[in-house]
Order: sequence, then structure tokens, then C-alpha cells
Amino acid sequence: MSGGGDAPGINAVLRAIVRKAIQDYGYETVGIKDGWKGLVDGEFIPLDLKSLVGLLPKGGSIMGTSRTNPFKSKDGAERILRNVSENGIEAVIAIGGEDTLGVACKLCEMGLPVVGVPKTIDNDLVGTDYTFGFQTAVAIACEALDRLHTTAESHHRVLILEVMGRYTGWIALEAGIAGGADVILIPEKPFDVEEVCECISKRQKRGRNFSIIVAAEGAKPKGSEEIVYSSGVDEFGHARFGGVGYYIGKEIEKRFENIETRAVVLGHLQRGGSPNAFDRVLATRFGIAAIDLVHEGSFGQMVGIQGNAMVCVPLKDVIGKRKTVDSKLYEIAATFFG
Ligand code: F6P
Repeated sequence: MSGGGDAPGINAVLRAIVRKAIQDYGYETVGIKDGWKGLVDGEFIPLDLKSLVGLLPKGGSIMGTSRTNPFKSKDGAERILRNVSENGIEAVIAIGGEDTLGVACKLCEMGLPVVGVPKTIDNDLVGTDYTFGFQTAVAIACEALDRLHTTAESHHRVLILEVMGRYTGWIALEAGIAGGADVILIPEKPFDVEEVCECISKRQKRGRNFSIIVAAEGAKPKGSEEIVYSSGVDEFGHARFGGVGYYIGKEIEKRFENIETRAVVLGHLQRGGSPNAFDRVLATRFGIAAIDLVHEGSFGQMVGIQGNAMVCVPLKDVIGKRKTVDSKLYEIAATFFG
């Protein structure tokens, strides 16, 4: 089952789980449709070895996904437990981020045998150095930055790339370092527009009459809240962030008579399409580790990677926490600001 926003590599995880489950352990496998919603409604898709053809590089999730929170409806959790028992399901592998794994943890306490796989382009889960999907998102953002560089330089403009990441700046930071950003704005360090403008001035003094700024969607001005795209929240209470790139662009234009800015929101281009080689390998390792945990009967755990070794961590130690960016990495990035 995959829940929450998709990430490149979900199908690669699925392929690894199903291949090993059937071939080595002789299990029967089914996919759960559209995240926790499928388990509430009892909707499954058959998964056998034939259904795995072409899955390794395929983006999205062939099972579908959703942001359904079964604890938001009166009997959601009970329906899940009933469907699990009535359909003879002996274990569930939940592929998801904080929200999906939070539900997995609660259901596990209610008796559901569940193993978690860390999925999110945001890379904000504790217990693992990397979530799958993140490196692909970084590579896409880096390519976007390379492209923005040439047009920014030709037009002598300030180009702002807004990337995803929700409450953390992992994508912004790593893509910004790889793409040679002149300023990187992340949620962990609320920004001051004057300081951003100082970086631009500093560059102008060096004869560099263009600049590249990477802004995480959750970056916020000091003393203010995140900039939201719409007022609603999803079933887990998250607002939709968006617009900080345009905000900064306008603020910069107010302060410089001779500077034009353009903002680009990379959005779901970061999540769609094929996983890169790193994420295909990571997703495959996660899938194999997850089905091995099921075979051992080690439930209530999430698989992870720490220092290139596969690990498992209790779900209860993962949820309700957030892995923020490495401050040492931010210092490295800041060497190149301005
Ligand atoms: O958590 C993954 C993520 O892509 C965030 O970076 C982003 O804020 C959010 O999902 C967007 O969600 P949706 O696809 O529902 O707009």
C-alpha cells in the first residue's frame, strides 16, 4: 500500500517486495488501492510475478495513492481491521511518509501486523538518512537550475526557483548546492529580504549581474508564517504551500530599480516520472528489507538506510518527529551565497 503524495520509486519497492515474497517465501500478494482508503473500502489489485513487468523505472504508483486518514472517519480503523481479517491478510507493508506511517503505527497498536517503508521526496523522516524519491527530486531541481542559469545570465535577471519539501529544506539545499545557487531559502532558517538583497548587491559589485535563488516552498520571512496557496488543509491538517518564490521576486523588485525577477514553481515535475538510478537501488533495497521483516514477523518497524546499511527502526520512534536539514551542509552552501 502506498499513501500520501507519490514519489519516484514506489513501483520499484513494490517489484522488490512481490518478487521476493512469491519467489523466496511462497506468499500470495495483493496491492491495496489508493492508500488507506483502499483498506477502508476493501479494494485490492492482484499482484503476481507477471504484474511486475516494466515496474522498475515506472513513476507514480500502480496501486494509486491518497491522503486518506482513516482516523478522520468514525469507523475507518475498525473497517480496516475487519477487511484485513475477512480477506485473510497476514501483513501489510505501508509505503509512505510521516502521515501514512503515523496511521500504520496506530493501526499496529490496534493489532495490524505492519511494516513501513520511508517514501517522500521531502527526505524529512527520522530513522533513515534518505527516503526514496528524494534524490530524483534533487536531480530534477538541479537540472532546472542549470537551465535557469543560462537564461538568467543572458537577461541579467534574478531567477527564483521554488521547490517542494513542505516543512524542511532538503530539496532546496541539496539542489541549491548542486546547481550553484547564490541564495538558498529554507524553512529551518526564516529569511530577511534585506539580506537576500545584500547577496544580489554583492554579486553586482563583482560584476555578476544575475542571480539564482532557490526557495523551499515552506521558507518564510522572519516573524511570518509560510505562504499558502489555498486556505484549506488536508485530512492530516497540512496546508498547501506555494507562492514564496513570487513573494521574494516582488520584494526584490521593490528594492532595486534596475532588476527584473522571474519566479518558477517546479511543483509536481519533481515527483512525476521515472526514479533515477540511486532511487531505483534504494527502493529495491527497501522492498527486500521490508518483506524480510514480514518473514521474520518483525512488525511495527520501518526499514531505513543509515551509513549505507539497511536498518529497521520502531515506527513509534519515527512518527511525530521531523528530520530537518543538516546545519553543517547549510554552512557549506552559505559559503557560495552572494
Ligand atoms: O510531501 C510531498 C509533497 O510533494 C510536499 O513536498 C508538498 O508540499 C506536497 O507533497 C504537495 O502535495 P499535493 O501533491 O497533495 O499537492
